Amino acid sequence: MASNIIKIIICILLLKFCNSIVMPDGKHIKSYASMGLTSVPRNMSTEIQMLDMSHNQISEIHRLDFQPLMRMTFLNLSFNLIKVIPAEVFQFNTDLTYLDLSNNLLHNTECSFLRYTVALTYLDISYNKYEIMILGEEFLSLPRLNFLGLSTANLSKHNLEFKSPLEIDTVFLGLDNIIVYEYRSLKGLKSKKLHISLPKNESMARTIVTDAILSSLSLELSNVLFTSGNNIYHEKETPFLKNQKLSSLILNNLMLTWTSFLGMLKDIWSSSLISLFINNITIIGKVEQLNFTYNDTSLKALTLKKVRFTIVYMDHVYLTTLFINMNIQNLSVTEAPMVFMNCPTYNSTLHFLDLSNNVLSDQASQVCPNFPVLESIILRGNKFKQISKVSKMTKMMKALKHFDVSGSQLHYDGGPEECGWLESLVKLNMSFNNLQHTVFKCLPEKVEILDLQYNKITYIPRNLVHLTCLKQLYIGFNHLSSLPGCSDFKNIELLVVENNLLHSISSEIFKDCNNLTILNARNNPYQCTCDLYNFISHSNRLDMKLVGWPDMYKCKYPDVFNGTGLKDFSLPELSCNIPLLVITVLIIAFAFTFSMLALCRYLDLPWYFRMVWQWTQTKRRVLKKKSSQLLPDMKFHAFVSYSQLDSDWVKEYLIPNLEKGDKPLRICQHQRDFIAGKSIIENIINCIEKSYKSIFVLSSNFIKSEWCHYELYFAHHKLFSENADNLILILLEPIPQYTIPAKYYRLKGLMAKRTYLEWPKNKIKHGLFWANLRAVIDISLPETEMVTCV
Ligand SMILES: *[C@@H]1O[C@H](CO)[C@@H](O)[C@H](O)[C@H]1NC(C)=O
Ligand SMILES: *[C@@H]1O[C@H](CO)[C@@H](O)[C@H](O)[C@H]1NC(C)=O
Ligand SMILES: *[C@@H]1O[C@H](CO)[C@@H](O)[C@H](O)[C@H]1NC(C)=O
Repeated sequence: MASNIIKIIICILLLKFCNSIVMPDGKHIKSYASMGLTSVPRNMSTEIQMLDMSHNQISEIHRLDFQPLMRMTFLNLSFNLIKVIPAEVFQFNTDLTYLDLSNNLLHNTECSFLRYTVALTYLDISYNKYEIMILGEEFLSLPRLNFLGLSTANLSKHNLEFKSPLEIDTVFLGLDNIIVYEYRSLKGLKSKKLHISLPKNESMARTIVTDAILSSLSLELSNVLFTSGNNIYHEKETPFLKNQKLSSLILNNLMLTWTSFLGMLKDIWSSSLISLFINNITIIGKVEQLNFTYNDTSLKALTLKKVRFTIVYMDHVYLTTLFINMNIQNLSVTEAPMVFMNCPTYNSTLHFLDLSNNVLSDQASQVCPNFPVLESIILRGNKFKQISKVSKMTKMMKALKHFDVSGSQLHYDGGPEECGWLESLVKLNMSFNNLQHTVFKCLPEKVEILDLQYNKITYIPRNLVHLTCLKQLYIGFNHLSSLPGCSDFKNIELLVVENNLLHSISSEIFKDCNNLTILNARNNPYQCTCDLYNFISHSNRLDMKLVGWPDMYKCKYPDVFNGTGLKDFSLPELSCNIPLLVITVLIIAFAFTFSMLALCRYLDLPWYFRMVWQWTQTKRRVLKKKSSQLLPDMKFHAFVSYSQLDSDWVKEYLIPNLEKGDKPLRICQHQRDFIAGKSIIENIINCIEKSYKSIFVLSSNFIKSEWCHYELYFAHHKLFSENADNLILILLEPIPQYTIPAKYYRLKGLMAKRTYLEWPKNKIKHGLFWANLRAVIDISLPETEMVTCV
């Protein structure tokens, strides 16, 4: 039943915004409300289950209007102009459970259409044009009915006497426009709850109220407006005393004098009433200081909501003393002009005290020892400012568990000595205040549920208090930019940090907070970096509920991720995993070194570098010398000295390579270009002197040959005498230093300077070798016939 009502309420709310929806549970809802319809539309979907056609101008209903809607369970036709409902109209709607026909022009109480609506639980035919209300046989065919709304112009005894077995849970009687009311008309009514909306006529209203109190178990009265007289019922009847079965009374829109109000309370005090709820009460005229004696009473709960006085000045001490001394369990005086709360004059029986939305201020916060059993105080929406004063209120209330001072102007900047919380407080609500991080210096130690939402807290200080009992912390809608771990509240189970300024949620939170099962951290300006990434990857692994995930978790920074859902944002695994990053860098570095080594080993890179270096050096020198160089007596580009054993290489490679091509070079070879008649030494000297450069082909053979050393000696000598670098060493094969005999110290010296050209074994490198050699000896010589070396 309750769940059905909730469903219906949801439906109605939803219908306000859109007119055709399918509920999550598959219910089809269609609204034609306030669309100016004059008749029921044709061709409606046969799927429709809930149909709202209220606030239209439909005047006629036809027999087959609802025939196609065989699945319909809810129909609202209120606020139309319907006069008659044909008997067969709901023939095919046997599932109909809710039918609202209120505020129409129906006048025939013979509701023959009810014959088919056997499933009906809710029927409202109030505010129609019924002259008299005689419930016909048809109502007997509604075994499941638990709500019935009726209205009539005339009500007399026996009209409402239903023939059993009809027993309705709630009957609503809209008697606003009643003309004739016969006293005791409600007598036969067998319903658990009766709700009556009263007429303006005070005398008639008084009769109805008296009757209603006498006839019900649970009563709700609306529009109880009595501006004259001393009571809301006929005094001689004292109906509260006569009906010892009435347990609950709700009065809506009550308007009466203080005297009437107190009179009514007095009667109620001696009655069987357990709970009195007055919603929207206006006290007219003076508030006289009448005495009120608190006899033993059945009353347990009194609620006054929206209390208004028509006079400005009144004795607040009298008023609050009157209420606070009441010997009941629950007292609520909310949305009233109470300016303070004073201590009861004797030990109070109150368990629950709600003074929300009054104008209580710090001056009202007295330390009261007279609340021995008070468990909850709700002081929401008042004008408290200092937490130190408010906290001291609780100090003497030994049974207090729940304290609510939300919605004030609380702030705190003092030291801990100013706080006076009752230590055993379990639930503390200080939301909607002006508190800052300093509030953590002023909290009851054993608190389990702490609400600090909507304050101005920028951070949670560490190591201030150890709230070891704290299980639920609500700190949403503050200015937090970071979250501490749980070191100060180890047993936290629920943490609400929504709508703060959190950039990140450190995954540390999972390490410290072992009992955390629900985390609400939605709507924060998340910075989508590694920290957060780690958190997200962590969160999937834990069985912790993230409220609002994933829709309400979005990246704010960096700009590229702005608006991206945390769920969808991803960084390369590598950039967030430091060990992995280090390993990768090491691998890359290793691979690089390894490939460099391989290149050196197999491609002989250093050789290339050396050759290119020498070549560029030579080019530079040549350029520098070019202008100054006049070599009139030079006949050869180079003289070649080599061991006879290396002559194959010289003849096969060296000579052909230098003497061929576009610019053939002239080479002097002592075997080929010798002048007969001269001694070998003379020939060598002659050859060296006529050559621009001297090329020595070094090899182990060369070192063994004496002649070659002579030649080297002369050439080197020339080098020094003319201060020119005319010596070119070609290393045919590696010659270890130690194999060179000590007496050839010149050669040793030259070798040590490494100014030689190495003959590469690899053919690919030969091109560069020859280019380099040519560059060294390439020079323009005077055009002479190249015949001899003389
Ligand atoms: C029918 O519609 C009227 C007007 O919108 C509304 O006040 C009433 O509560 C609705 N009836 C039911 C049973 O929901
Ligand atoms: C008194 O208040 C408590 C706490 O709100 C509530 O649980 C209880 O039902 C109330 N008692 C009556 C009789 O209304
Ligand atoms: C604290 O009070 C606020 C407003 O008065 C309310 O919305 C909130 O639900 C309360 N918190 C708890 C934990 O009951």
